Amino acid sequence: MKMILLRLYHVKKVGVFIPAFLMILYLEGDSGGNQVILEKPPEKNVTYPVWLAADSGTERRLPSCIIIGVRKGGTRALLEMLSLHPQIKAAPQEVHFFDNNTNYGLGYSWYLNQFPPLAPGQISIEKSPSYFVTKSVPERIRAMDPNIKLILIVRDPVTRLVSDFTQITYNRKEKGLPIREFDEAMLRSDGSLLLDNYGVATGLYADHIQNWYTHFPREQIFLANGDRLIRAPWQELNKIETFLNLNHSITKNDFYFNATRGFHCMIVKGVRKCLSKSKGRPHVTVKTDTVAKLREFYKPHNYRFYSLVGKDFGWPEE
Ligand code: A3P
Repeated sequence: MKMILLRLYHVKKVGVFIPAFLMILYLEGDSGGNQVILEKPPEKNVTYPVWLAADSGTERRLPSCIIIGVRKGGTRALLEMLSLHPQIKAAPQEVHFFDNNTNYGLGYSWYLNQFPPLAPGQISIEKSPSYFVTKSVPERIRAMDPNIKLILIVRDPVTRLVSDFTQITYNRKEKGLPIREFDEAMLRSDGSLLLDNYGVATGLYADHIQNWYTHFPREQIFLANGDRLIRAPWQELNKIETFLNLNHSITKNDFYFNATRGFHCMIVKGVRKCLSKSKGRPHVTVKTDTVAKLREFYKPHNYRFYSLVGKDFGWPEE
């Protein structure tokens, strides 16, 4: 095993295009004499590839669960809050393995290396919000592990859109770039909606989830409610612990309400911790008329989503 580990660090090229369920890594010399990792479809009951971390008795494993989106749905809050569970270890950054061809081209060995070492009994988890809307991702995740658990956290698509626009506005301001009013960016001069910009399509949840349901059974995708995560995070987390087959460990006592931020923040090993300032910022101003138009637009899509997932989120319609 140690020999293989050493050699993995010297891999120049990683093949990932051979469909694999759970994979076995094996090394083979390519024509130029470089080491190439191929992935071959494994026999039944093959365990995940594991790298032993030096001396500590820990190991890295591919994730048991991925938060697939949605962007601005509360993905960071969910990941950080799940990390309160002693059995959950999160990848610190958004990994973007399955939706970024360059990263994907680096292969599972690269992906594995993005996760922290695990103690026995722990699982790893990552979040990359754009997975949800990227057509090729479900198939790629399924090829890695058809049994993986997936979480999608959603909120009212209009609030999501305003949140997204707010983030873009802050980012542009920081870079000294010109910014636009939300209403100006969303409406044509005749007052009709401009639907092909600023992430409107991200909120067409029904379209995206249909793609996922062609690759994964429904029970493998947990639908988390982003509004409930804000109001009473411990309740939503309790359901996710059940979904992940983990002990119930996260409770109301792991949180306190921070009135300045207007959100529940965490108490991590006795230390109070809120998310970064970029989460939960005041939103840009939006005219009520524009909101009404957007709600009208999303209404049929939301109904289709409720029907597909079998859950009515009750998002505002006016
Ligand atoms: P806003 O910044 O628009 O309020 P993501 O991490 O997917 O980008 O989602 C960001 C959203 O997470 C925030 O959107 C905020 O509403 C939500 N959120 C949920 N719980 C939060 C918490 N405890 N602290 C801060 N933001 C939280």
